[in-house]
Amino acid sequence: MQFDSRKDSVIPASFESINRMRIVELLETKVENCKTKTITFNDALCGKATPGQFVMVWIPGVDEIPISLSGINPDGCTSITINGVGDASRTLNRKQKGEIIGIRGPFGNGFVISKGNVMVVGGGTGIGPLMPLSEKLVKTADKLTLMSGVKSQENLLFLERIDNVCSEIESETVFTTEDGTYEIAGFVTDKAETMLTNDKFDMIYTCGPEQMMYKMFLLAEQYGVPLQASLERMMRCAIGLCGSCQIGKLRVCKDGPVLTSEQLRSVKEEFGKFRLDATGNKIKQQ
Ligand SMILES: Cc1cc2nc3c(=O)[nH]c(=O)nc-3n(C[C@H](O)[C@H](O)[C@H](O)COP(=O)(O)OP(=O)(O)OC[C@H]3O[C@@H](n4cnc5c(N)ncnc54)[C@H](O)[C@@H]3O)c2cc1C
Ligand code: FES
Repeated sequence: MQFDSRKDSVIPASFESINRMRIVELLETKVENCKTKTITFNDALCGKATPGQFVMVWIPGVDEIPISLSGINPDGCTSITINGVGDASRTLNRKQKGEIIGIRGPFGNGFVISKGNVMVVGGGTGIGPLMPLSEKLVKTADKLTLMSGVKSQENLLFLERIDNVCSEIESETVFTTEDGTYEIAGFVTDKAETMLTNDKFDMIYTCGPEQMMYKMFLLAEQYGVPLQASLERMMRCAIGLCGSCQIGKLRVCKDGPVLTSEQLRSVKEEFGKFRLDATGNKIKQQ
């Protein structure tokens, strides 16, 4: 099957076109906080992505890294939100409007949109892929509880966008900061537990540090709520060939990055506990 961007076709894109690197120009770069930036570019294939899918971003002369889509629009206007932690992500965050990057994708399985009473729990930059998800959920769900947990007020992201999306549906927003500088002091998972005790949810979506998602998985199991979590692993090929992203029998790039409760149960010896490092050695998670 061929993708024909000229006709804005609904024919599914071929694997070759998804995996082919496209050079895109940065249309906008926005500083979100001292370590985080959102960059926007135009790409027809990303315009058809599912929330939770990711792209491999080539930063010329540095590296190629996986980043989830934080903004998806049918016209192809796409954004990614990057936390500068190392060489590649920091170099990406220094890029300015008009500079170029390469992208492959979108790859992997995104979130499955649910109905009913849904809880969305983001930790740090993990709120990124949960934004286009929430923008879809407001069209299908009855109620949305959107929770964002960060270390400190300065790390909060997308406050205005969260306000806008939540104004479209019966909703509740919860912000937690570990140092108590904004709204509720403490961990987002503690507040989520209180909410799970008091209300019946139909689906939990989560993305963030793995320890946080592991805690959400345990809570979801305890309260009998299905969960979808977006996992991070070392990635190279992004198409299920190299094995860098292995967790149990699953490959996060192809089977995930969004894994369901059932899939997470099948890898519970590793989820929240171990990951492969750059050399393929299994290392303990911090
Ligand atoms: C499917 C998927 C989606 C992702 N989506 C996003 C996204 O939307 N936004 C985003 O900012 N990142 C995202 N990441 C993580 C991103 O790919 C890594 O942060 C990036 O590869 C780091 O590369 P680097 O060369 O800058 O840092 P490296 O040199 O690889 O790492 C530098 C240091 O930072 C640590 N580190 C690496 N990754 C992380 C991390 N994720 N969090 C904290 N510390 C880390 C390393 O252990 C090391 O100590 C995603 C990863 C995957 C697998
Ligand atoms: S990144 Fe190569 S198999 Fe997943």
